[in-house]
Amino acid sequence: MRNLYLFGFTFTLMAIAVAQTPKIFEGADLKLGEKLIAENRCTECHASKVVGDGSAMYKPMGRVNSAGILRGMVEQCNTELNMGLFPEEVTAIAAVLNRDYYRFK
Ligand code: HEC
Repeated sequence: MRNLYLFGFTFTLMAIAVAQTPKIFEGADLKLGEKLIAENRCTECHASKVVGDGSAMYKPMGRVNSAGILRGMVEQCNTELNMGLFPEEVTAIAAVLNRDYYRFK
């Protein structure tokens, strides 16, 4: 009986975790995203433009106000700066930024 409760609880947690991931970020490779953010010096450049460690560049209440726009913004930095990222890499990066800063549902 106790196991059944535990199972139910775990299942509920899993359902919540899935529900909080925007559709376009489902199945995104977060590990890859973290690696690409570090490799492409996103934070370094952003830190030179804003006060602090660069995370102030990410403004969840600003123009970037949905998961789709967030992904589009990463795509724009990718294109403008000639980073040569593949679409699934852009998605992975945006998914990490969403998890850590924007938290769109
Ligand atoms: C050479 C500098 C530079 C690099 C490198 C760079 N960015 Fe940016 N990024 C900017 C600038 C400048 C802006 C602000 C643009 C604006 O407000 O129009 C910006 C804005 C953004 C925003 C929008 C923030 C918001 O909430 O309004 C996102 C998201 C973003 N960058 C992601 C990235 C990611 C991810 C990378 C690395 C893969 C990256 N950027 C690399 C300069 C850079």
